[in-house]
Amino acid sequence: MFTRCWLWIGRLLRRTLLITLSAGLASGAIGYCYYSLKFSGPVSAEEQIPATEAADSRAIIEDAIRVVEQHRSDTRVLRDAHAKAHGCVKAEVSVLSELPSNLSYGVFSQPGKTWQAWMRLSNGNAYPQFDRARDARGMAIKLLEVEGEKLLGSRSEQDFVMFNHPSFFVRDVAEYRQNFAAQANGQQVLAFLPGWDPRHWEVRHLLIALQTLSPAPETPLASTYNSIAPFKLGPIASKYRVIPSPENCPSYTPPAQNRDLPNFLRNALYQQLSIDRVDACFALQVQLQDPTHFMPIEDPSVEWDEALAPFVTVAKIRVAAQDFDSREQNLFCDNLAFNPWQALPEHRPLGGINRLRKEVYEAVNVYRHQRNQQSQTP
Ligand code: HEM
Repeated sequence: MFTRCWLWIGRLLRRTLLITLSAGLASGAIGYCYYSLKFSGPVSAEEQIPATEAADSRAIIEDAIRVVEQHRSDTRVLRDAHAKAHGCVKAEVSVLSELPSNLSYGVFSQPGKTWQAWMRLSNGNAYPQFDRARDARGMAIKLLEVEGEKLLGSRSEQDFVMFNHPSFFVRDVAEYRQNFAAQANGQQVLAFLPGWDPRHWEVRHLLIALQTLSPAPETPLASTYNSIAPFKLGPIASKYRVIPSPENCPSYTPPAQNRDLPNFLRNALYQQLSIDRVDACFALQVQLQDPTHFMPIEDPSVEWDEALAPFVTVAKIRVAAQDFDSREQNLFCDNLAFNPWQALPEHRPLGGINRLRKEVYEAVNVYRHQRNQQSQTP
């Protein structure tokens, strides 16, 4: 009797396991076929602006200002995103001495030119939290003394604004609006699964969001930072990224930090640049769109396949050993304003998420500077 019962349980378990495995394999295969069909080229090489975008953008700006107010620290109003800096450091960005003509545009048009720059390293969250919390990590670079009319006016700066994941967790401004509103109501996961209709579930975007919130690196100088959204490079759409290139710098193994300390990423930066006095090196790379393949302009949740469009180095970046962690420089850093639209026309931002960023960064930047009664110019 006991043996029959035992065999019956075994059969049941085996059947359940087989059904679960088959269901898993079938959904994997359906998902693969669905995305292979959906994510196949060609795509447009031009922007396509949805009719509802302007209204969605206005609503997001209002929400963003509310978030800034909620998160102010004491009397000071911080950024609405990437509020916590590990530091602002001086950097040199040197264009390669030989670049093919299809990459020689804007700030890359003078071979061998070295630009002086500021680099701000940050955590992504709207509220400063312990570095060990899962989060995106940001890098913003501001090239100085860049001549020529910019998309935001005549300031002599060219900005590059990135974080350390290659894809964004929403497709467009409409989805951003719905997602932001749900998250503001505390619905972190449900923001991606609105309602009971599976056609509106964004499971792929949920996975991107979960991957974006990753554990902290050993040091902010060891991550790859991506533009995620596309930008012009002369006449062609491109994406850019900054990758560590230790081969151009003295060899250095960062000592393990105490990850229980709230600001261990700042400590790691301080240790390398200010105590051990070792330079850090990166490469600035671009990836050109090939619109015959699925490399969309309007959907930054899709990475452009590197096998079809490899990244190519256009400049080297050196962060020399330096002292950066002073009260004056930290305040200066907080008052700096980065904006992907602070750019030459040759580097014009493209796509809905970038169009949204133009309005939002400007609005939040003006608002926080007014509230902090600081001039926008450092
Ligand atoms: C491609 C996607 C994006 C990337 C790579 C990105 C990256 C960054 C980084 C690195 C910063 C910090 C800049 C600094 O150091 O001062 C930043 C700031 C900010 N981001 Fe984004 N972001 C993206 C999309 C968005 C979107 C869709 C919004 C909102 C609609 C947004 C809103 C902001 C705001 C308000 C700030 C602070 C601006 C300021 O007050 O100076 N970002 N972003």
